[in-house]
This record gives sequence, structure tokens and C-alpha cells, in this order.
Amino acid sequence: FCGPCMPPQIFQEMPAQYVQYKRIKFPCGYNSVESLQVAENEFQVRDDDIFNVTYPKSGTVWMIEILSLILNEGNPVLNQSVLNSLRAPWFTTQLGLETAHDLPSPRLLTCHLPVQIFPKAFFRSKAKVVYTLRDPRDVLVSYYHFSKMCIPFGEPKSFNHFFESFLNGEVLFGSWFDHITGWLKLKGKSNIFFITYERLQQDLRGSVEHLCRFLGKELDEAAITSVVQNASFEAMQKNNMCNSTMLPKEVMDQEKGTFLRKGICGDWKTHFTVAQSECFDRAYQEKMQDLKEIFPWQPG
Ligand code: A3P
Repeated sequence: FCGPCMPPQIFQEMPAQYVQYKRIKFPCGYNSVESLQVAENEFQVRDDDIFNVTYPKSGTVWMIEILSLILNEGNPVLNQSVLNSLRAPWFTTQLGLETAHDLPSPRLLTCHLPVQIFPKAFFRSKAKVVYTLRDPRDVLVSYYHFSKMCIPFGEPKSFNHFFESFLNGEVLFGSWFDHITGWLKLKGKSNIFFITYERLQQDLRGSVEHLCRFLGKELDEAAITSVVQNASFEAMQKNNMCNSTMLPKEVMDQEKGTFLRKGICGDWKTHFTVAQSECFDRAYQEKMQDLKEIFPWQPG
């Protein structure tokens, strides 16, 4: 569907190595087929678990900070002293599984799993999911820059190459379109909360209040103010527990980029050519046509 901007040889070029599980590619090193199998089939979900679920680059780490702060009534001490991966473990990895197992309740858990391989036990539980989504064009741009610095993701050959891979669902964690349409089928369930990155940007305080209601947490005004302040882009940039600078160079090469890069909406406009923008809109309309949902970004 993207003829004019897509030379055919692009399909033969693939990024670094990956683990494949049920047709979805995962980065090597952290994930294994075994750990993913355990996450899907054996992970013991507790009724008070809170899952932070996203497609990559949609605001995952931002939401970890927000939820972590809400669970701690706005007290930032834990956020400032414990790594986010220990506060909200990635339970699809061996290490994350062990961390999750040892966490006291209520647990905050993180993943990028598409709905079809999400822990089966969740669907028999009262646990909650917060699903954050973002303008896919900004996701693409953020993902491109992130892949340059995050070694297991493999450096993209070019922006255009990454653009095509993204549209074709060839990137790690699979197709953005499938991820979003899959999860949105669960909209309306009382234990699943959908929020956009754009909404967080537009009204962080209102979003925090909304999240508190969803989680059944009553925070006073001062506590909410603390959540908002400590989850701001500036506060997170300064916090080594969430800005990725503690990760080893073999994983995250800080010379090749910054994890908390720009933190804005609409950065795609400085990256996409007119042809790419048109190409993206065509693909978007085709793949999202069955969704009734109106998103803040709605291209076209
Ligand atoms: P950019 O690369 O566009 O700057 P994830 O955590 O899912 O990997 O998403 C990372 C993206 O979220 C990055 O986007 C990052 O800057 C942005 N982000 C993280 N914390 C943020 C915050 N407090 N405010 C705004 N954007 C934030």
C-alpha cells in the first residue's frame, strides 16, 4: 500500500536478532520464549494487581511514575530511590518475573504484550489494566530514536526503512495497529482504563484524578499536586531511577540518544515528508476503518 516510498529490497533487511513468540518479535536478552510462555500461561495474577500496558514509546515509563506515585499517596521517596524496573517489573522477562513474584501487593506490573498473549489469569481476576496509547506517528518517531540508543532493538538502517517496518508491523512488539485494535476490543470492561499520551499532556492533573478514581485511591489536593510535579518531564529527566541513565552501555548507549528525548506531541511533523505523511494516513485509514473510536490525533 505504500508503493512510492518503499523500495522492495527493504523487506529483505532485518534489524538485530529477536525472539519470536506467537508471531510477535521481542528483543533478545531480556525475553525468551520460555519467559513469555510463563507470562502468558502461568503468571499468577493477584486481584489487586495493576498492569501498566502500552505499545512501545507510548508513555510507558511516564505511566509507571504516575501510578507509582498514586500508590504511594504522592510521596516521591520510592520513585526517587528505587529503579522503575523494580517498582513496576517487566514480568515477561525472567528477571522481571522474579521481581514481580517477590513484590508485596498491590503490585504494579509493566508490559508491551498484545492482548492475545496477555496473562490468561488476568481474565479470571479482578486485576486492573491501564492502557496508554499515543499518536502512532509520534510513536514511530520516538521508536526510531529509541532504537538507535537501545542496543537490543537494533539500529535502524534509515528513517524511511524504520517507517516502512513500522507500517508493516515488522518492528519489535509487532504492529501498532494490531496492538491498539486488539486491546480496544476490551473497551467498556470496568477493570480496563484507556488513556492517551495526548490527554496526559493536555491535562495531567485531571488525568491523575481520573486514574485515582479508577484505582479506588483517594488522594488529597497536596498529594495530587505532588504526583503531577514528580511525574513532570523535567522531574523525570532529573530522576536517575526513571531516566534510563542507570542502564549499562551495552543496553542503552547514552551517547546515541536520550531516553526522555522531547516529550512533546506532534514531533512527527519535523520528521515525515509529505509523501510519508500521505502514505501513513492511507495505511491508518485502511487498518483502523472498523474502529468507531475518535482519537485526539486523527490524521487526515
Ligand atoms: P519522545 O521520544 O517523543 O520524547 P516509553 O516510556 O513508552 O518508552 O515512551 C517514551 C516516550 O515518552 C518518550 O517520547 C519520552 O520522552 C516520553 N515521556 C516520558 N515521560 C514523559 C513525561 N513526563 N512527559 C512527557 N513525555 C514523556
